[in-house]
Amino acid sequence: MFKMLPEVAGSGAALLNVTIDGRRHAAREGDSVAATLFAAGLPSCRTTPVTGVPRGPYCMMGVCFDCLVVIDGRPNQQGCMVRVRDGMVIERQQGARLVPGVVEVQ
Ligand code: FES
Repeated sequence: MFKMLPEVAGSGAALLNVTIDGRRHAAREGDSVAATLFAAGLPSCRTTPVTGVPRGPYCMMGVCFDCLVVIDGRPNQQGCMVRVRDGMVIERQQGARLVPGVVEVQ
């Protein structure tokens, strides 16, 4: 579905080590978390809270919120707006997540 452009793939960017859903992956320095997921062959990054339908990054510019992931234990992070860094732990978000410090209203 997505393919890295040859001039980007061969740009010599430093490689970082990240963990995605418990598995180690290489990531290109300067890429966003969403781009790292695409490069790892993972087009979906979350499931919807109501029906569990998989969703993936769409706008890649912070507008659609379809790229929500858990980064280093913090849920609801926009993967397209966060640059990947060495040692980052990324989890694809399953359903709704509570935000620490926020009380859920029923
Ligand atoms: S892909 Fe749309 S907000 Fe991240």
